Amino acid sequence: MQVSGKISLLMAPMVDLSHVAFRELVRSFGGCDMFYSEMLNSRIVPQEPAQKSVYLKWSRTDDLVFQIVGNDPSKMAESALRLSLFRPRGIDINMGCWLNKITCHGWGVALMKDMAKARDVTEAVRSAVDIPLSVKMRLGYAIDREYLVDFGKMLESVGVNFIVLHPRTAEEGLKKRARWEYIAYLKDALNIPVMGNGDVTSVQDALFMIKQTGCDGIMIGRQALREPWIFRDIKCFLDYKEIPVNPDAKKAIMDLAKLLGKYFPEDIALKRFKKSIYWLASSFKFNHFIVKELSRAKSLEEAELLIDKIVPPAPG
Ligand SMILES: Cc1cc2nc3c(=O)[nH]c(=O)nc-3n(C[C@H](O)[C@H](O)[C@H](O)COP(=O)(O)O)c2cc1C
Repeated sequence: MQVSGKISLLMAPMVDLSHVAFRELVRSFGGCDMFYSEMLNSRIVPQEPAQKSVYLKWSRTDDLVFQIVGNDPSKMAESALRLSLFRPRGIDINMGCWLNKITCHGWGVALMKDMAKARDVTEAVRSAVDIPLSVKMRLGYAIDREYLVDFGKMLESVGVNFIVLHPRTAEEGLKKRARWEYIAYLKDALNIPVMGNGDVTSVQDALFMIKQTGCDGIMIGRQALREPWIFRDIKCFLDYKEIPVNPDAKKAIMDLAKLLGKYFPEDIALKRFKKSIYWLASSFKFNHFIVKELSRAKSLEEAELLIDKIVPPAPG
């Protein structure tokens, strides 16, 4: 999964945002090593119709990791098995989502409260599939280095192939800074690869994270929504190549609209386009105006025309 001496670049799972159309956009700039799907509900996956589902859409799966969420070992195993039939790069268990609508069921980061339950879930998924298995997790409910390491060792002993650590507590959500030093603690304690996640917003941040933590890979979420070319830039930097100039953001926005229209029904494509614009237009000084104007669009075509009218093309 992770080649020694090579840093893996991963795109984070993000509900309604890390979908097939966005993955295609990122691939148009060179892609990344692994794309994580948005979290998939293990109560639904086993019977979800693959052809019709808006969640089970892909153009290719060799670089795709399906993330599943839940806490029932048999449902999680069944979901993993079903998804493995589409030959993905791997399966990930969500032990990081902090939202109440997830944790109230004992899912996401709530699994980190109960090591025995987390072990049962992980063992069940591990026995169901033989493709790479990762766990994306947080610090848990407290800042406790010993517990974090014990939890990581438990996952390692059950056969997880690598861990992605977003070093914030459950309560912190996306607030405060990600405590990268905990990525280093976990990396030092485990034999399996540890990927770092949280607050990487530039090539320099990526370099700092690698240097500070010794991590085996970097997962990027929000900044990839703003700059879908960030993986290309980091890769160029790590390969001692010149970083290309930023692509035309307007063209990226228009390309995403086209890709959404290609993969999703009109209403869902429009909703997802509106969600992405908040991030993708962030390089424009008048991005709030763009988001506001676009919120009124009633169709994808109207949205595209609006963007074309109000966003200037790149100079040059
Ligand atoms: C809109 C949004 C949706 C998210 N959805 C998921 C999800 O489905 N599964 C998950 O494990 N994390 C989810 N996350 C957390 C991200 O994967 C990531 O851990 C977090 O944004 C920190 O990384 P970043 O600083 O690079 O954005 C979500 C984050 C955002 C902003």
